[in-house]
Amino acid sequence: MLDKSNIKTLKPLPRHVAIIMDGNGRWARRRFMPRIMGHRQGAKTVKEIVTATRELNIPYLTLYAFSKENWSRPAEEVNALMDLLYEYLQQELDELLGKRIRLRAIGEIEALPPKVYDMLLETMEKTAKNYEMQLILALSYGGRSEIIEAAKRFARKCMEGHLSPDDLDEGSFRSFMYAGDVPDPDLIIRTSGEKRLSNFLLFQAAYSELYITSTLWPDFDKQEFLKALNDYRRRERRFGMTSEQILLRCTSSES
Ligand code: FPP
Repeated sequence: MLDKSNIKTLKPLPRHVAIIMDGNGRWARRRFMPRIMGHRQGAKTVKEIVTATRELNIPYLTLYAFSKENWSRPAEEVNALMDLLYEYLQQELDELLGKRIRLRAIGEIEALPPKVYDMLLETMEKTAKNYEMQLILALSYGGRSEIIEAAKRFARKCMEGHLSPDDLDEGSFRSFMYAGDVPDPDLIIRTSGEKRLSNFLLFQAAYSELYITSTLWPDFDKQEFLKALNDYRRRERRFGMTSEQILLRCTSSES
């Protein structure tokens, strides 16, 4: 029997945190405000959590900012969200450069309004050489369509004679996805209590730890973020193995 007493109980911080930012509408409704005020407050939370992620030296943060399904919301809300995104990119460029944060996007970004798309490309270009942290915005993103698009890209390579079906494995498939070089999220946080993935990072979430809080996104702050991170650090990630195997791995890597 392995002695667990000398194993550190607090694990390292996650390398990649992904967040489903939910609850903006409810936050606004509770205050008898239009939904967009909830999104506006949510954008302030985005700034706080990006800053905290950078301070904690967590190298990857992915935010589910706009899903493919969100296009079916009322046009007024979609337009307001696009304006907010544009504003965020415009206001945050200096901050991203100063903190050496690279901005990336996953999703069908060509579907964004030209003004937002251009600003997004410009921000991605200007921050491309930043290496301290990557902020990845999921925009017009859907997990199923990411997988389908990757399959199409792979099939095209096969038809062109560059690859064959036997070349495909989990590693090579990733290279056809939006950001195949980014490690899978260790921790996925969802605010506002809903217990589902909502088409977010379906392929990459296979072994992610899930943390669900009833706090609405506009109320989520650095304290709440630290609570989620500490919860994660107390968990045992087994990746399909047994506790004993994980302990053996830990003790052999420590000796
Ligand atoms: C879900 O809440 C949230 C969204 C669809 C949009 C998220 C956008 C932001 C946080 C602000 C803009 C983003 C950036 C990166 C500047 P909901 O509207 O579905 O809330 P509800 O479930 O309470 O109605």
